[in-house]
Amino acid sequence: MAKTPAAVPHHIAIVMDGNGRWANRRLLPRVAGHRQGVDSLRRCIRACAQRGVRVLTVFAFSSENWNRPAEEVGALMELLATALAREVPELDRAGVRLHFVGDREGLKPKVREGLAAAEARTAANAQLVLNVCFNYGGRWDIAQAARRLAEAGTPITEQSLNGALALAHVPDPDLLIRTGGEQRISNFLLWQAAYSELFFSDRLWPDFDEAALDEALAAYAGRERRFGKTSAQVAAEPSTAAG
Ligand code: FPP
Repeated sequence: MAKTPAAVPHHIAIVMDGNGRWANRRLLPRVAGHRQGVDSLRRCIRACAQRGVRVLTVFAFSSENWNRPAEEVGALMELLATALAREVPELDRAGVRLHFVGDREGLKPKVREGLAAAEARTAANAQLVLNVCFNYGGRWDIAQAARRLAEAGTPITEQSLNGALALAHVPDPDLLIRTGGEQRISNFLLWQAAYSELFFSDRLWPDFDEAALDEALAAYAGRERRFGKTSAQVAAEPSTAAG
């Protein structure tokens, strides 16, 4: 992978919130908002790739979303299946490598097969890694990692736990965006977001366009990332930009 300037986040994570409100405001069923959300995601993937972002992680269905009305849960499962069928060929052509992150045990066998097939088809791609968190929760992830280490008799350290988490194949997110006006993490990437820069947008996810992404990128470029150090220490460090 080519190196990107430090001002462009290598990894962006997004809580795509606001689909329901987008639909409500138009007197449409909530699922219409989720459908529009898929369009917004397609646009966002393309824009991220164009700007040099190498990893995009999105929260599509949380462990807690099972508590929504059965009709909406069914619609989101259906949407995943149709989005896979429709979008994967184009994502593959664009060099996007897909990973589905979350508890697959809770999903129907047909859905699981679709996820595995999409991952296999795009496994050799290297333009952008797209992690779709589906039936995912940060607490679930930490618990499954700890359980796997304990079962293997591996001592639990920060390093071993880090390597057993579901996102071990990518570095931690540099920038975490939440759309929809709420300012909380909602059980997303609890471990991995330890040092992510946070950006909250009032835009509803279906309205999160390229200009809104650029606003988040500009805010990120203006942040000083200290990772626990002082400002003076950071200023004295050699620049990592493009090198
Ligand atoms: C949160 O908005 C959004 C979700 C729970 C689903 C996100 C899904 C997509 C953007 C579509 C992509 C999905 C797949 C399956 C690839 P909300 O419903 O909580 O909105 P609200 O806060 O306005 O009610």
